[in-house]
Amino acid sequence: MVVCGYGKVILFGEHFVVYGLPAIASALELRVTAEVIPAEHGIAADDLLSGKKVFLGRDSAPIIDLMPFFLKKFNVPKDRHFYLKLASDVPRHGGLGSSAALVVAVTRAMNEYFKSGFSDEQVNKVAFEAEKYFHMTPSGVDNTAATYGGMVWFQKQPDNRVTMERIKLSQPVEIVIGDTGVSRDTGNVVQGLRERKENNPEKYHQIFAEAESLVHEAKQALLGCDLPLVGELMNRNHKLLQDMEVSSYELDSLCKVALRSWALGAKLTGAGKGGCMLALTPGRNLQERVANAFTDEGYTAIKTSIG
Ligand code: PMV
Repeated sequence: MVVCGYGKVILFGEHFVVYGLPAIASALELRVTAEVIPAEHGIAADDLLSGKKVFLGRDSAPIIDLMPFFLKKFNVPKDRHFYLKLASDVPRHGGLGSSAALVVAVTRAMNEYFKSGFSDEQVNKVAFEAEKYFHMTPSGVDNTAATYGGMVWFQKQPDNRVTMERIKLSQPVEIVIGDTGVSRDTGNVVQGLRERKENNPEKYHQIFAEAESLVHEAKQALLGCDLPLVGELMNRNHKLLQDMEVSSYELDSLCKVALRSWALGAKLTGAGKGGCMLALTPGRNLQERVANAFTDEGYTAIKTSIG
């Protein structure tokens, strides 16, 4: 059976969420699909980076490095033979949770094939542990959105327990994702911010206080379908991320282009320093206009929706 893990955008609260503040994320239609298929020899998988079929014990690839972890989780001996068939339409430059979508899809595929009977909650837990391979201190928001889909309010408690609540919009809202084409490593961006924060606690204390009130306001604006306010809060969230030095020339340019084309709001999404941004563009016409403006500037635009 083919199963999947969803890509996601963080609408509010990336980075802050690592330190226990709430974040709001929405799963996307973009996804990683996975299926375990019986095989004659060895354990093989598709490497999404190279597009090649890679084998345990012979090749080096993230999915192969992760395989011993998955075999252990599902009590599968190394002498079993199977092929993990993978495909993805989640861009890998960063920001759309491609690694979380991958580990959720793999966890679900192993769960199906080896009949482990894991619940969504268990799938999410395994995926969270696997995410640590990609970046050391994930907050858990990516794997949660990748597992459950839809829009979620997510908060990591001080004891590492997680609060997750679904946010239901009265109808899906169009967005445009702008892909800078610039790759970066989430772990490095998170670590760089940690160092700046430690060196300048006062500045960051103030930014974090603003971020906290902003995310609560955003939740109410989303629930009340007040899209102009949601857009304004996205702009403010982007400004806070700029102040924390996690934006980039390309991300800021894309946000400016989006706002010039009448998007209601625009911000980077995910770790920043490259990767992707999103623009709030309710209605097909506005969505089309903003997507065209991105491609005119030489960037890749993805038209999709949230909620
Ligand atoms: O860029 P992405 O898709 O890996 O998202 C990272 C989101 C952060 O808040 C920066 C880190 C985290 O673990 O939540």
